[in-house]
Amino acid sequence: MSKRVSFKWSSAATSRADVRLYVVQEGKVLAGASLTEDDRQALDAWITAATFKGKAGAVAWPQTVPGVLLAGIGPRNEFHAARWRRTWAAIGRALIKAAPTRIAAFEWPATASFPMDVATLAGLAADGLAQGTYAFDCYRAEKQSGTIVLEWRGKELGTKPVRAAVRRAALIAATLNEVRDIANLPANDLTPKRLATHARALAREAGLSCKVWDMAALKKEKCGALIAVAQGSRQPGCLIRLAYAGRRGTRLRPLVVVGKAVTFDTGGISLKPGKNMEWMKYDKCGGMAALATVLLAARQALPRPVVAYIPSVENMPGSGATRPGDIVTARNGKTIEVLNTDAEGRLILADALTFAADEQPAAIVDIATLTGAVIVALGHDATAVMGNDDRLMAALMCSGETTGERLWQLPLWPEYAAMMQGQFADLKNIGDGSAGTIAGGMFLKQFVPDGIPWAHLDIAGTAWLEKDEPYGAPGATLVPARLLADWAAHARDDD
Ligand code: BES
Ligand code: MN
Ligand code: ZN
Repeated sequence: MSKRVSFKWSSAATSRADVRLYVVQEGKVLAGASLTEDDRQALDAWITAATFKGKAGAVAWPQTVPGVLLAGIGPRNEFHAARWRRTWAAIGRALIKAAPTRIAAFEWPATASFPMDVATLAGLAADGLAQGTYAFDCYRAEKQSGTIVLEWRGKELGTKPVRAAVRRAALIAATLNEVRDIANLPANDLTPKRLATHARALAREAGLSCKVWDMAALKKEKCGALIAVAQGSRQPGCLIRLAYAGRRGTRLRPLVVVGKAVTFDTGGISLKPGKNMEWMKYDKCGGMAALATVLLAARQALPRPVVAYIPSVENMPGSGATRPGDIVTARNGKTIEVLNTDAEGRLILADALTFAADEQPAAIVDIATLTGAVIVALGHDATAVMGNDDRLMAALMCSGETTGERLWQLPLWPEYAAMMQGQFADLKNIGDGSAGTIAGGMFLKQFVPDGIPWAHLDIAGTAWLEKDEPYGAPGATLVPARLLADWAAHARDDD
């Protein structure tokens, strides 16, 4: 649960703030008239002596000027939406740790310091602040509570577009924090069935339609690939469809997001090593991001219809489990040699993608914690994007830049297809050990009919935080839900 954060605009004269907030760029405090010359000198002197130099996301309470919180934004030429939101998340965390209730005042510095428009920046800040105040405390006796009021001073902030951006950001942050409470649940409390129950409840509240295929229904639909993963667990798998119809009377075709929701990935018979396996409760994060995306579309009343498909299973090595070498048939009739039961995400997505294609969509985007290899390639700051349509990929990358959920493209050239060909079936579910992330993308490509723009986002490196950071608590990030909501808000039919 998160602390309620409220925003308020005010002029300096009415202020009852107990914290003054300043951002620091390249060792200099950026502030306007509210900072006295004495205080400015004291702060500059403190920064010169301290280890705090205004690195992006770092915060400090300088002892020489009580009641001031400094937050670094990093050098100007490295400024990015991602860093700016992190700065504000770090501010939110610092305020919450200091006291349960705070009124913090922030004077908007000269905009020349930022290479982005004020509305976008204000939205990112509001979102970051709310994100920083989030804590997953469902399982703790002591819950976080309280309110942070942020007084934003400066006439730039009173304009309509800025107010709208902040309102929108607050809605996004609240929705994401709500979904985060589900995404952070451990696998004993979040089975595929319970995930479907949560999805149904959220759908009802947001006015979405919701349909769930259980194991019997999946069998009727010939979802041999999804079932092959589900059958190793006592917990039945399912496929969830959530649909936002778009604005009344719309004739736009839907955008369809498909998210991998493996509630726990043991690897199955190709069992994973024990060390760090606990993080595999986050193997459902693609599905959670898909859920968040369709909720955001509905709550923002976007013109365009958005549909989410969420295949959910628990990948376990039970007695019914699929064995290496087993051959299964996917819903589109393709046969797959399962050579490694730990490459399960692509199997459940394969069947879900064929449902997505049946929607006559304008585009399909799938989201999955698919490969450890993407962490080797890109680390934790970029999501890999692959696909069959350059315009779609450009639109997604653009939304990634403005929302700070950055993408980096990998190729899906025909040259890579050979490594996915099966020895005894149409396909195999692993490649030759090289280009692991691309192998996952090439496999999925086989389940998207020609002519439908499609992109695959591998979020294995970006879906959750493992360490406590100044800008965030360990747990699900819901990347790339903000990106996809932004894309859905802007996508045109020919995108
Ligand atoms: N869920 C994992 C990928 C993963 C690993 C996500 C680490 C986040 C952190 C996925 O199901 C998996 O096990 N992938 C295998 C694929 C391999 C068998 C081809 C992997 O990456 O090792
Ligand atoms: Mn796996
Ligand atoms: Zn997995």
